[in-house]
Amino acid sequence: MKAINKVIAGLGLTVALGLGASSAQAAGGHGCGTYKDVEGKEQTLHCESAPIDLTNKPSIQRGASMFMSYCVGCHTAQYVRYSKMYKDLDIPKELVEKYLMLTTDQVGDHITAKIDPELQSSWFGAAPPDLSMETRLRGNDWVYTYLLAFYEDPSRPWGSNNIVLPNAAMPHVLHDMQMNTSKEQYRQNIGDIVNFMAWMAEPQAHQRKIYGFWVVLFLLALLIPVYLLNKEFWKDVK
Ligand code: HEC
Repeated sequence: MKAINKVIAGLGLTVALGLGASSAQAAGGHGCGTYKDVEGKEQTLHCESAPIDLTNKPSIQRGASMFMSYCVGCHTAQYVRYSKMYKDLDIPKELVEKYLMLTTDQVGDHITAKIDPELQSSWFGAAPPDLSMETRLRGNDWVYTYLLAFYEDPSRPWGSNNIVLPNAAMPHVLHDMQMNTSKEQYRQNIGDIVNFMAWMAEPQAHQRKIYGFWVVLFLLALLIPVYLLNKEFWKDVK
């Protein structure tokens, strides 16, 4: 139990009583569950706010690279094609082929897991879910907090546990990264991974905002001739 409290303090996760659930819901749309403190009291866990910025391509590119190295060993992202990735994220095709396509050799392919999910189900006791839509399903903040919330727990088969998803079947796959980088760098890396996952869940989101802006601008600009025409038409009637 002490270990959990240390992780919570270390992560800077905001923990509060009572009010927690509703404000976490209001802030991130999804709460991050509860945990029991040293006295066995139920405490609410606020989700950390994920640094999502779909205009930050370098961050999404870094996230893509880490996602390919650390996650697709087990998880699929079946709605995303490699070709979409290199086109939309401005990653040269050669680099995608060389560094990102670890599980297949066709750029038109979807992202599949290296290890057969059924086999994994028997190893981990739970099949790793497809992650294409994960951030929409759980919310960006939930995924970000979940990835930050692994801690050592010798009682678990893989020696790790998770505050947000207690007894998670997923091992702490970023353990080495966490040991070998500063806390800030580690958080930034996880932020980049979640930023990539947010892009993956809705690759059109950023584009849509840009279109929205021009459409509104066009409608506003259209008001001027419409107003003048209206004046012209009614001139003789009055
Ligand atoms: C060794 C295999 C493995 C690797 C590598 C792995 N995961 Fe997982 N992951 C799992 C398993 C198994 C689960 C199911 C956990 C459960 O339900 O208890 C899971 C669950 C998850 C979930 C929670 C899904 C949900 O909604 O309940 C997220 C999010 C996730 N993984 C993200 C990642 C990310 C991001 C990476 C790369 C940094 C990654 N995983 C790497 C095996 C893995």
